[in-house]
Amino acid sequence: MARSKGRSKSSNRWLERQRKDPFVRRAAADGQTSRAYYKLAELDGRLQLLRPGMWVLELGAAPGGWTGYIEEHVTGGRVIACDPRSVQAGGETVVVPGEYGTAVVHEQIAEILGKRRVDLVLSDMAPNITGIRSADQAAAMELAELSLDAADCWLKTGGNLVVKMFQGEGFDAVVGEIRKKVTKCRIVKPKASRPESREVYAVGQQFLGNG
Ligand SMILES: C[S@@+](CC[C@H](N)C(=O)[O-])C[C@H]1O[C@@H](n2cnc3c(N)ncnc32)[C@H](O)[C@@H]1O
Repeated sequence: MARSKGRSKSSNRWLERQRKDPFVRRAAADGQTSRAYYKLAELDGRLQLLRPGMWVLELGAAPGGWTGYIEEHVTGGRVIACDPRSVQAGGETVVVPGEYGTAVVHEQIAEILGKRRVDLVLSDMAPNITGIRSADQAAAMELAELSLDAADCWLKTGGNLVVKMFQGEGFDAVVGEIRKKVTKCRIVKPKASRPESREVYAVGQQFLGNG
């Protein structure tokens, strides 16, 4: 069978969009791993999420844009970065390779933390996109639910929680669950998040704990 010559129209469109995207260009100029760095930078700038000495559990850390930002801002603290894909991280960060939600990952985090709880749970987890909108939305909401489980397991009372979400089926229900667990919950769309994407972040502040 003859192979199609050159790139498909959709991959050309993607490349063109990447070329023009100011945050992709900025990431390349700054030597950042990904444009995602600027999403967390904006969330942190607006809501003061990170401070020196904090312990942070980061879910969906690869390729490592957020990890780099967190490492810069929690000097003297600890970053635990979980992802089945490879994470570019500094020497002090503990990388937990694997999928959050599996027993093996849970055991590793339990071993690292002992009785300690973290100050912040950050989740930028996203599923592999299949193109089937309902399935992708359901998978994304499942990951958001896993982030809430992570807060129940590992977040200290008074700590903060950031969860990547996609607006659509199930969104309001998960936001409702977050609201029950925290004093204040805001939905934020960072400027570095593509305007055409349904991606937003739910930021839950002052976790009420499980007691
Ligand atoms: C948008 S990327 C994260 C980008 C990252 N925050 C950065 O700044 O480089 C989403 C990541 O979620 C990860 N992911 C998906 N399901 C996961 C799970 N159950 N546990 C941990 N990571 C997961 C994917 O492997 C992927 O690397």
